[in-house]
Amino acid sequence: MKQSTITLSLFLFVALTACTVQPSRHATDEPFRSVYHHSPAQNWMNDPNGMFYDSEAPLWHLYYQYNPHGTTWGPMHWAHATSADLLTWQEQPVALYPDSLGTIFSGSCVIDRENTAGFGEGALVAIYTQSEVCGQHQSIAYSFDGGQTFTKYEGNPVLRGDIADFRDPKVFRDELTNRWVMILACHQEVRFYSSADLREWQYESSFGAGYGAHGGVWECPDLIKLGEKWVLLLNLNPGGPFGGSATQYFVGNWDGHTFTCIDEPAETKWLDYGKDHYATVTWYNAPAGRTVAIGWMSNWMYANQLPTVAFRSQNTIARDLYLYRDDAGEYRVGVQPSPESLALKGNKTSCLGDAAVVELSLCGEESSVITLSNNKGEKVVMTLDVHAQTFSMDRTASGDCSFSLDFAAHTVAPLFVKQAVNRVTLFIDHCSIEAFGTDGTWVMTNLVFPSEPYNHIDVQGGTAEIYDINL
Ligand code: FRU
Repeated sequence: MKQSTITLSLFLFVALTACTVQPSRHATDEPFRSVYHHSPAQNWMNDPNGMFYDSEAPLWHLYYQYNPHGTTWGPMHWAHATSADLLTWQEQPVALYPDSLGTIFSGSCVIDRENTAGFGEGALVAIYTQSEVCGQHQSIAYSFDGGQTFTKYEGNPVLRGDIADFRDPKVFRDELTNRWVMILACHQEVRFYSSADLREWQYESSFGAGYGAHGGVWECPDLIKLGEKWVLLLNLNPGGPFGGSATQYFVGNWDGHTFTCIDEPAETKWLDYGKDHYATVTWYNAPAGRTVAIGWMSNWMYANQLPTVAFRSQNTIARDLYLYRDDAGEYRVGVQPSPESLALKGNKTSCLGDAAVVELSLCGEESSVITLSNNKGEKVVMTLDVHAQTFSMDRTASGDCSFSLDFAAHTVAPLFVKQAVNRVTLFIDHCSIEAFGTDGTWVMTNLVFPSEPYNHIDVQGGTAEIYDINL
């Protein structure tokens, strides 16, 4: 290391040993219960589903894959929660129960303003997969009480599967053709279907062969307009960059019938470079033309073994997506904490505790190392390597990793835009760290299970500001 490098590193070295007493500012019912992330009070949860924004209430609705009988994956229902601020969630009664056509897998909701389906003007229509021994089919149900209760359509299923993996319908109103479009995950591709009335569906086209990652089954797709392009979000399990589950995306064009990808076929673009980010889809009807996404903060490699007690899994914070061009001119999806998530940032403090927002300013010329640690010697080490242009997070010594051999991990994100100063925001909440790079040009989401909260932060090559949580 050159002399100037040493001087600079020393100059920028920051060590904040905040609290000798463990802060417990945010009392929870068990050590790994998040305070500002959505989690079910009890039992098992996986994918977020059917999210819609009710602009009249106004209220954010979130449904999710739920097993009311235990803390591992089982017969799937749609459970329901609502929020005015995307930070605090009220549990609502379970919205969709299994029936003779099968259990209730992932799907989406739309508002049928023009009564195209004949259920009534303004009906909220849920479109979901029914899974049974003989296959997977798509069904619909409608609600007139703001999504509290649904009536299942007597003509279900509306689309029968012809292959084993035929699921996770995401429906949107296509303005080019003025009809409904459904994107469906079909093994290792997606299919597009169209409909005038949400009941009868016609096949339009397929996308996927030869594009992106195919290490596992494609699940939970979404098609969104970002800037001048269309982006296909596609969840993949297994086959993620660090093993197991991950979300890839494709940038391209949509003509009302076909999605055409403009990315290099062999390139895989990942939405999040952590190991615990999956089943990400976006809210229908989000306000002000925003594209608001949320993901399941887990990984199928060990989701059923996570060391929580009464419940399993939580979702990420809400994130706003946008399109940008990287230093090479390539289109990429930027992921920023939603303004609602940023409203969490409370007062500046010297105490790092079980829940905090940390803002880092890291020198763009020298590599930086950020270490979160506790009095037990457990630590998470993050490195922003300016030579390799990567940000990495090592959780191999972060606390309890014993519940699965697949948990210990070292995740790495490429930095697509070189910065004079790298700004990284960490959202810490009991058992999770979400790291957002400058302007959301990269993001990394990882779970951690320390035996006591990290109460110490060291930053070499930069500075840190810690903020309390404002809830
Ligand atoms: C993704 C997924 C979906 C399916 C659901 C079942 O995590 O496998 O494809 O609909 O979970 O719970």
